[in-house]
Amino acid sequence: MGEFVKVAKTSDIPAGTVKSFVVENEVIAIFNLNNNYYALKDQCSHMELPLSDGILEDDIIVCAYHGAEFDIKTGDVLCMPAVEPVESFEVKVEDEQIYVSID
Ligand code: FES
Repeated sequence: MGEFVKVAKTSDIPAGTVKSFVVENEVIAIFNLNNNYYALKDQCSHMELPLSDGILEDDIIVCAYHGAEFDIKTGDVLCMPAVEPVESFEVKVEDEQIYVSID
């Protein structure tokens, strides 16, 4: 079980958007889906480019570079050309602060 690290305020990430943060040497994309927050490693498993540059379509992030798709809740890959999932992180919100669990 990882340790929760404070990353951002909820107001930093408007609903329907994604932002990138550096947390304990990891670059993490945090998604706001209807004011529920999810975190993935900010690196597409295809060519390691930032997922946070992509387009958020409900609970799917579409990579800006070659169109791979991932489930933002799990990191599961949904569409080629990526074939591997991306790492997902547990998120909690307390007092309008977003925390991510890092191993
Ligand atoms: S880097 Fe994401 S689809 Fe190629």
